[in-house]
Amino acid sequence: MNTNFWVSKKVLITGHTGFKGSWLSLWLQHLGADVYGYSSPVPVSEPHLYGIAQVSNNMDSTYADILDFQRLQSFIQKVRPEIIFHLAAQPLVRESYIDPVATFSVNVMGTVNLLEIARHTESVKVVINITTDKCYENTNNSIQGFMENDPVGGSDAYSASKACSEIVTSAYERSFYSDSGKFLSSARAGNVIGGGDWANDRIIPDIIRSIINKQPLNIRYPQAIRPWQHVLDCLNGYLLLAQSMWESGAKYIGAWNFGPGESSILSVAQLIEECNKHLENRLNVVYESNTQPYEATTLVLNSDKAAKLLDWNIMLPIHQSIEWTMEWYSDYMSNRLSDLTLRQICQYENINASRL
Ligand SMILES: NC(=O)c1ccc[n+]([C@@H]2O[C@H](COP(=O)([O-])OP(=O)(O)OC[C@H]3O[C@@H](n4cnc5c(N)ncnc54)[C@H](O)[C@@H]3O)[C@@H](O)[C@H]2O)c1
Repeated sequence: MNTNFWVSKKVLITGHTGFKGSWLSLWLQHLGADVYGYSSPVPVSEPHLYGIAQVSNNMDSTYADILDFQRLQSFIQKVRPEIIFHLAAQPLVRESYIDPVATFSVNVMGTVNLLEIARHTESVKVVINITTDKCYENTNNSIQGFMENDPVGGSDAYSASKACSEIVTSAYERSFYSDSGKFLSSARAGNVIGGGDWANDRIIPDIIRSIINKQPLNIRYPQAIRPWQHVLDCLNGYLLLAQSMWESGAKYIGAWNFGPGESSILSVAQLIEECNKHLENRLNVVYESNTQPYEATTLVLNSDKAAKLLDWNIMLPIHQSIEWTMEWYSDYMSNRLSDLTLRQICQYENINASRL
């Protein structure tokens, strides 16, 4: 990555108070960008990385609903961003079973609102819509690796809403963005780990809550296998993509996969064992009875396109990703609310630089 690229760029992040948005905001602040954020006034969790890492200190934040078209419009027209990362979303499958209407509203109409306003805003040159590996129609639980041109779809409301968000993005790109001097892409990644995630029903936050609350860790699907990647590897892909879109335009529009390779695939039980290596006391795990194997296989992304055209690769192997993640929470639990988030960003940049 050309780190100088970001100096003084006006960057808007929707969903900047969330897990990924907080890491991305801090990283862009560190790179010298002028960072603006637009997120719901409701915190994503308690506690939250946004507060712990004091993300708001060096950026301009607005707290409002992305479904409020007028508010979003006046905000974007005032800020006049050059690059937009769209992360505001309802990101949880289980929550989408509880409130499918809210999930579709935010994930689909939130995207429509953003893309509609951005296309009428002269300053905007690059927009990246962050979706998910779950946007693919997953009919056979293939571990072959989904390619960017595979069909999108979804059998739960979250996956379907993200598939819709992809279709919206593609339609806006072909109808309005192409030939307009603006460039629009979508980025698909999955199962991200890293310090500061407190979402419900994600394995790392569940582990940390079980330690803090001194409660057993209840696991439903120990054999479910997942490709795991550190949040910084994922965000590195978004940054490389934005930079390439800015510099070389049309060649980089469309969909992009940012997933880890096969060596990053672990079962939930294996992940727990890896976490145990970084803990003073082993986790008290209770495997829930009558548990059925959830998925013998799971979806995996083929990220050859990003490797070839963006020179994007995973920098943190799975064991190091888990080590950095557990180090972050260990600091948090020792009340060392230090600058570890930023230090890990710097460490990551050093690894990246030494690779060149
Ligand atoms: N974390 C992961 O493992 C993962 C995996 C795949 C894809 N994603 C995608 O990445 C993006 C960010 O995920 P995350 O884990 O950081 O989620 P998060 O829940 O931590 O953050 C979501 C953000 O969206 C904002 N938001 C939600 N509803 C809003 C509304 N109505 N108006 C304005 N803002 C609203 C929240 O305020 C928050 O800032 C999402 O699009 C998600 O689908 C995440």
